[in-house]
Amino acid sequence: MFIDTHCHLEKEFYDDIDEVVSNNKKVGMSKMIVSGCTKDEINEVIEYSQKYEEVFLTIGFHPEVANNVTDLDLKWLENLIITNKKIVGIGEIGLDYHYDGYDKNIQIKVFEEQLKIAERLKLPVVIHSRDATMDTINTLKKYSVKGDIHCFSGSLETAKIYINMGFYLGIGGVVTFKNSKLGDVVSKIPLSSILLETDSPYLTPTPFRGELNSSKYIPLIAEKIAMNLNVSINTVYEQTTKNALELFNIK
Ligand code: NI
Repeated sequence: MFIDTHCHLEKEFYDDIDEVVSNNKKVGMSKMIVSGCTKDEINEVIEYSQKYEEVFLTIGFHPEVANNVTDLDLKWLENLIITNKKIVGIGEIGLDYHYDGYDKNIQIKVFEEQLKIAERLKLPVVIHSRDATMDTINTLKKYSVKGDIHCFSGSLETAKIYINMGFYLGIGGVVTFKNSKLGDVVSKIPLSSILLETDSPYLTPTPFRGELNSSKYIPLIAEKIAMNLNVSINTVYEQTTKNALELFNIK
């Protein structure tokens, strides 16, 4: 049994949500932690968390929508989190300097406001960081929060910084990509700092690249991590499940 600690579940990607959840369960998925990153997404995924026992949520405004986030939106977010027990964390939140046209200051402000909510509510954060490693680390250091560096694909040096700050690293399909150096990094970090994730529908593992991703492909990721760390796949499942339950405080 395994937990997919970061994925997306929306009608925009999947015709039949029932089928996705049931196919995931067939290969051993016990829980999926679905991320809602915009107001519309959040409203949609809350429905699924009520419908499916296995679906838990993290919600938060993604850096790509930071420009449109108002104080009222942040208040709305905080109230939702307080009143919904299946929301187990805040995210994905963070910084993304990949595409032209972003506003660094606005992104940092929206990120920090959500880190403050996490501090107040003592909830873990799920971090999205793209081309923004140093700003992400420096911003996180200002707050007393723990969490998951989702879709980690950085260097060993960066991995060690996050681990020393008490963060887990979310490892997904990238570890299976032929030219990725992530496997080397994974082989040098403790399993006690690793979470399994797909970031589905994106980042489908090899050999299914090009197809729509879902939690049913976690075994391909776990297998690669097991190889990198020279342990059994069951050891990977057991330890990463324990890590996820602890971080997201799921009983
Ligand atoms: Ni994501």
